Amino acid sequence: MSQSDTIRALLLPFDRGLLPLPERCFLMRAEADEALDAEWRSRLVCEQGFKPAADRLAKAGFETVRRLDGLFPAGLCLLTKHKAENRANIARALSLLEPGGLLVCCGANAIGSASMERDADRLLGLEGHLSKHQARTFWLRRSGGELPGFLAEWAAAGGPLPVGGSGFVARAGCFSPDHVDTGSALLAACLPDGLAGRVADLGAGWGYLSAEMLRRFPAITGIDLYEAEATALEDARTNIAALVPDRARLADFHWLDVAAGLPEVAPYDWIVSNPPFHDGRKADPAIGQAFIASAWRSIRRRGKFLLVANQNLPYEAELRRRFREVELIRAADGFKVYLSSNRYDRVP
Ligand SMILES: C[S@@+](CC[C@H](N)C(=O)[O-])C[C@H]1O[C@@H](n2cnc3c(N)ncnc32)[C@H](O)[C@@H]1O
Repeated sequence: MSQSDTIRALLLPFDRGLLPLPERCFLMRAEADEALDAEWRSRLVCEQGFKPAADRLAKAGFETVRRLDGLFPAGLCLLTKHKAENRANIARALSLLEPGGLLVCCGANAIGSASMERDADRLLGLEGHLSKHQARTFWLRRSGGELPGFLAEWAAAGGPLPVGGSGFVARAGCFSPDHVDTGSALLAACLPDGLAGRVADLGAGWGYLSAEMLRRFPAITGIDLYEAEATALEDARTNIAALVPDRARLADFHWLDVAAGLPEVAPYDWIVSNPPFHDGRKADPAIGQAFIASAWRSIRRRGKFLLVANQNLPYEAELRRRFREVELIRAADGFKVYLSSNRYDRVP
């Protein structure tokens, strides 16, 4: 079951003539896909907060925004595996529709979309539904009056919520939104004395590692957080302002695909990363390897790079290709922490 199948299922009510093609329409959690042909491309405004996917959409010629606003006659919403995120997206989608506007949602059976369909039917009333391509497609309309009150709760449950008792906030759909990740906690426990100067955090998520570094290392002069997920980056900004207010001015927040390289800035003294290990669906060590390459390109000659990764991931060879010294400084709980330094000028 691929993303392409889900998009084909999403378009099915239009392809079968059950619904007329809308003049203008938004697509939430959009993905560039050939099923979205030139006809659709001219009608869609695509929302995508994940930078690599947003870049793919823009490259394919779609009008792409990080967050939708305005009013539309119709909207499409691709469901994710996170119930709270789907509920929040449906609540927001309805608020973006003109009275009488159409909302079509679709998600793979494997991510529990049937249960979202049942909820939507029970609470909002569906106009139609289909089941094909191992996915559920259902549609409804915004009524003329006020939106039902429970939608405010759906919207709030998808917003920033406390991460256990840690003091941080994060939201459904982001990495580890309800607890501090074990790998990140291990890396934080290994942050060495002497961490100072200009620092970068690659795949910074909702800011746990950066906040820890700002809190504990007074000799940091600036920290750049690079993160692909726009909502995580927003939460990182909130967390750092709330938890290290006296040092928050040292932090800069960048919505960026780290695998495509960092911007050309003065090289960093320290880089830390707990890199992603999958592309949303399947494990893919190439992403972590691309993060290592980006760190290598942007670090000072004698700079230091701290990386934590699941111990099964094949990162050590990549580190050794790029740094003269690579030390395994901690292995615990299924994770390994490496400290690499003394970069090679060229990679063999
Ligand atoms: C393993 S998580 C670590 C998050 C955070 N540093 C922490 O310790 O909780 C990896 C992070 O990388 C982000 N990410 C995934 N692909 C990315 C990319 N291509 N560029 C930048 N960040 C990416 C994910 O959204 C996620 O927040």
